[in-house]
Amino acid sequence: MTTTPASTASDIGAVFPVLDLRVVAGDLELRGISDDDIVVLGALAAKGIHSPDRMPFSFPWTDVTPEELPLNFAQYHWRTRADFSPASWILNLGVRWRGELVGSRGVTTRNFVVRRTGETGSWLGIDHRGRGLGTAMRQAMCVLLFDHLGFTEITSGAFVDNPASLAVSRKVGYRVNGTERYERRGELAEMTMLALRPDDWVRPDVPVEVTGAERVRRLIGVAD
Ligand SMILES: CC(C)(COP(=O)(O)OP(=O)(O)OC[C@H]1O[C@@H](n2cnc3c(N)ncnc32)[C@H](O)[C@@H]1OP(=O)(O)O)[C@@H](O)C(=O)NCCC(=O)NCCS
Repeated sequence: MTTTPASTASDIGAVFPVLDLRVVAGDLELRGISDDDIVVLGALAAKGIHSPDRMPFSFPWTDVTPEELPLNFAQYHWRTRADFSPASWILNLGVRWRGELVGSRGVTTRNFVVRRTGETGSWLGIDHRGRGLGTAMRQAMCVLLFDHLGFTEITSGAFVDNPASLAVSRKVGYRVNGTERYERRGELAEMTMLALRPDDWVRPDVPVEVTGAERVRRLIGVAD
C-alpha cells in the first residue's frame, strides 16, 4: 500500500518562497517563519521582550496579556502572508542563534518596485538582548535587502527612549533624517527616524550566505 507523503515546509515554501529564505552569518541565521516557528516565537514574546514600563513599538502589540499574545501574534503573521503582494509586502524572518529561535526581524514596504525602500523592525526575547545579536541580525538583514533584494535605502524608527535600537542603527551606519510624533499609551512620544544608504553601510565582519532570494525577487516583482 502506498501512503501519501506528509506535507513538508518545502512544499509550502514552493508556494510562498519567503518561507525558504535563509540568511546565515556565523552562528546567526535568519529564516522564513513556519507555523511551528510562530508557536515558539509567540511563546518567547509572551515571556517578555521589554520592561513593562517602556513601549518600544509604534503598534503596541505587547500590551496584551501573556494568554492573548500567542494567538494575536499568529494572526499577525498569517495576515502578512495573506496580504503579501508586490504593491505592499511585509517580510518577516525568524532569528536563530546556534539553532535556537531568539527573536524576529522584518521589513515593511509599499510600491517597492519603484521606491526601493522599506522600514525594518525587530525584537529579541528579553534574555537574548545586550550581547550583540541585535547588531548582527540588522547587519545580516541589510545584506539580504541591499545585496539580494534590490533595496537602495533602508529606514528605521526608534522612540527616543530606546537607546539599544538607536545604538544599533548608529553602529550600522544609519543617519538621522527627522522625527515623528506618536501617541503612546495616551501620551506624546517622539520617534527618531533614520535612513541607511549603501555608501554609509557598515558591513558585517563575518561572511553572510543567502539562499532562496531569487524566487523572492520574482515574488516582489524585481527579478532580473
Ligand atoms: C533593539 C534590539 C533588537 C537590539 O538588540 P540587542 O541585542 O540588545 O543589541 P546589541 O547588543 O547588538 O546592541 C545594543 C547597543 O545598545 C547599547 N545600549 C543598550 N542599552 C543602552 C542604554 N540604556 N544606553 C545607551 N546604550 C545602550 C549597547 O551598549 C549596545 O551598543 P554597543 O555594542 O556599542 O555597546 C533589542 O534590544 C530588542 O529586542 N529590544 C526590544 C524591542 C525593540 O526595541 N525593538 C526595536 C523597535 S524600533
